[in-house]
Formats: sequence, C-alpha cells, structure tokens
Amino acid sequence: MKIGILGSGAVGQALARGFARHGHEVVIGTRKSEIEGLPVATPEQAVTDADLVVLGVAGRASVQLAGSLSHLLEGKVLIDATNPLDFSTGAPRLFVGFEDSLGEQVQKAVPGARVVKAYNTVGKALFVDPELPGGPPTMFIAGNDDAAKGIVTQLLQETGWEVADLGGIEASRWLEAMCMAWVAYGARTGTWGHAFKLLGG
Ligand SMILES: NC(=O)c1ccc[n+]([C@@H]2O[C@H](COP(=O)([O-])OP(=O)(O)OC[C@H]3O[C@@H](n4cnc5c(N)ncnc54)[C@H](OP(=O)(O)O)[C@@H]3O)[C@@H](O)[C@H]2O)c1
Repeated sequence: MKIGILGSGAVGQALARGFARHGHEVVIGTRKSEIEGLPVATPEQAVTDADLVVLGVAGRASVQLAGSLSHLLEGKVLIDATNPLDFSTGAPRLFVGFEDSLGEQVQKAVPGARVVKAYNTVGKALFVDPELPGGPPTMFIAGNDDAAKGIVTQLLQETGWEVADLGGIEASRWLEAMCMAWVAYGARTGTWGHAFKLLGG
C-alpha cells in the first residue's frame, strides 16, 4: 500500500520505518524539508498520493491539520493515532474526554474520510512487530466504516497484532482514556515496553 504519514515526530518515524520494512511505500507529510532515511513530502502531497493516511501529529494540532486537508482526504482511510494529552500542569491529563474525543473531532473535521482510531493505546516502540513474552498484544480500534476497519485490521495483523474492534468512532473516548492507563503504568514503573492484551471473549 501507499501510506502517507502526517507528522515527523516519534510516531510518524516509527510507523514509517516499520511499514517500509513490510514492503509498503511510505512518505511522511511534514513541514520539514528532510528527515534522515525517510522520504518526505508536503502534507498535501502525502495525502494525495496515499491509499491510506495516518494522522500522527501532536494532539493539539490534529483536528486543525485534518480539517485543512479535508478535501484531499475524501473517501480515504485515515488512521487517527493521536491522543489529547496535555502536559502543561506536569502530570499528563486529557484535554478532551467523557462526552467527546479527538477521534470524533477528527471525523467531524473530515466528514468524507473513513477515520479509524488505532495505535493510540501503545508506545511507538511496539507499533510494528511487537515482540512480547505473552504473545501478540491487542490493538483496540474504533471507527464508523467497517470496510476501513477491515483494511486497518489487515495492516495490523500483518505487523504482529491481534485486533479488537470497539465499534463506532465515539469509542475513541475509551481508547484515549486507555492511553492514560498505559502512561500511568509506565510512569509508575519507569518501563515503556508494555501493551494491552484482551483475553477470553
Ligand atoms: N510517542 C508515542 O509513543 C505515542 C504513541 C501513541 C500515540 N501517540 C500520539 O501520537 C501523536 C504524535 O506523537 P509524537 O510522539 O510523534 O510527537 P508530538 O511531538 O506530539 O508530535 C509530532 C509531530 O506533530 C506535528 N505538529 C506539531 N504541531 C503541529 C502543527 N501546529 N501543525 C501541524 N503539525 C504539527 C509535527 O509534525 P511536522 O513538524 O513533521 O510537520 C511533529 O513532528 C500525539 O498525539 C501522541 O499523543 C504517541
């Protein structure tokens, strides 16, 4: 697949390198002019050329950036990997929650795109080919378009994940809260190599 990744931070680079290892054609859509070892383009060009787009920018920028590319994202699968994390008071907190989520706000900003929330409940080190003693971890996803979730599920399964679909995009409220549980455990233990796994069902 041709995958356009918006954002050249830790998330964008980890996904780009991991997807490229699996034979996907990746490009990072960024305001930067170069990134070592990875192809870059403007956000507009990266979206235009892509079969699938990943939104991997800072949470505070995600809705505005997605909205500005709305016309180019029409019909495309858009993975929203972002979290509404606010570190301004020291301890992290969510700046959206309970009755709303970034996933829903992104979907509203790009009504023609098929948004799938994914990758937000785990650290970048495990995004692609996670190797854990307990076997494949579970990526929790949410979105309104079943076909889009099917495409994302296939991508996740080929890169080492089990997938649990929590339903429509409003379930992003729970996925974004799960990020806080992941961060809290890491902050308490000082380790960042953990992931969730759903057992039974
Ligand atoms: N780090 C993790 O392990 C992890 C795991 C899961 C989810 N997440 C979430 O994924 C998102 C990205 O995280 P990150 O760790 O890569 O780093 P980040 O520092 O939160 O964001 C990185 C990218 O955001 C883009 N950005 C920032 N402000 C922008 C603006 N005003 N307009 C457009 N783009 C802007 C920049 O892209 P350019 O400079 O390239 O344009 C930058 O490279 C966050 O929402 C985070 O919560 C992070």
